[in-house]
Amino acid sequence: MIRQTAMVTGASEGLGKSFAFELAGRGMNLVLVALPDTGLPDLSRFIRINFNVQVYVYETDLTVAKNCEAIFEGLSALGVSVDMLINNAGLGNWSWFADKPLSFYKTQIDLNITGTVLLTRLFLEQRQRPAKAYLLNVGSLGGQFVVPKKQVYGATKSFISYFTRSLQLELSGSGVQVTLLSPGGINTKPELLVLNHSLKGLSAASILEPETVAREAIRGLLKGRKEVVPGMLNRVMLLLDHLLPGGIKKLIIRQKLKVILKQHN
Ligand SMILES: NC(=O)c1ccc[n+]([C@@H]2O[C@H](COP(=O)([O-])OP(=O)(O)OC[C@H]3O[C@@H](n4cnc5c(N)ncnc54)[C@H](OP(=O)(O)O)[C@@H]3O)[C@@H](O)[C@H]2O)c1
Repeated sequence: MIRQTAMVTGASEGLGKSFAFELAGRGMNLVLVALPDTGLPDLSRFIRINFNVQVYVYETDLTVAKNCEAIFEGLSALGVSVDMLINNAGLGNWSWFADKPLSFYKTQIDLNITGTVLLTRLFLEQRQRPAKAYLLNVGSLGGQFVVPKKQVYGATKSFISYFTRSLQLELSGSGVQVTLLSPGGINTKPELLVLNHSLKGLSAASILEPETVAREAIRGLLKGRKEVVPGMLNRVMLLLDHLLPGGIKKLIIRQKLKVILKQHN
């Protein structure tokens, strides 16, 4: 049996690591990508031994365009083609616009937008027809709700949403399944664990573990869903967002902003 191969970007930790375990558990060979010196070789060894799958590792910076090309050139030289691309690597933040330097926003846009577009283009180019191919782009509920302190991050995720939906139209009937993942809060790293722990009520209840998000996302991708919003509560909040009149939503956001400003001052 020829095993299928999945590429996961940002696989060293957080949601990407959970994707790697989920896909290895389904018997897929893996191409794992993350920045250098983030434990990727150890992770790949662990997965190889415990799941008996092939794991290829690329420790590289996806904000550099030629690095994205080099990954696919390297795989082609090994005779490996990628059947599934999980565009997961992303840089988030929760801060006032003036508080981050120019270099931060440049990196955020290069990784969240440019890296995703380039890898998607390269992935589609190398796909082996007529075999089915799978593309999962990791967006965020943050790309759908307009909130303060997520200005550039939210905008990059709105880009991912538009990009993915447009590709779904272009690629319909082509044998490429394209799915948008729109998660709410996920307990992926210590900073977020602390932040999420301070939440109350519905916000606290909506936070999910990365393993749950990865499982729901892959299930949705393989079932041919256009969008996966993990967690019932997040789906209800999204529905409310579609149903509520614009004026009421603005009022709610202004109230939230007042609370945030009070905490800030
Ligand atoms: N966490 C949440 O609450 C949440 C909610 C909604 C959506 N999301 C989205 O889910 C995805 C994963 O989030 P996460 O919380 O799991 O993030 P994370 O824990 O910060 O992991 C990000 C991954 O991306 C990699 N990465 C960062 N910069 C890179 C670069 N320049 N080149 C290559 N790889 C790079 C990191 O590698 P290193 O370890 O090498 O730095 C890491 O593996 C992101 O797209 C995020 O926007 C997250």
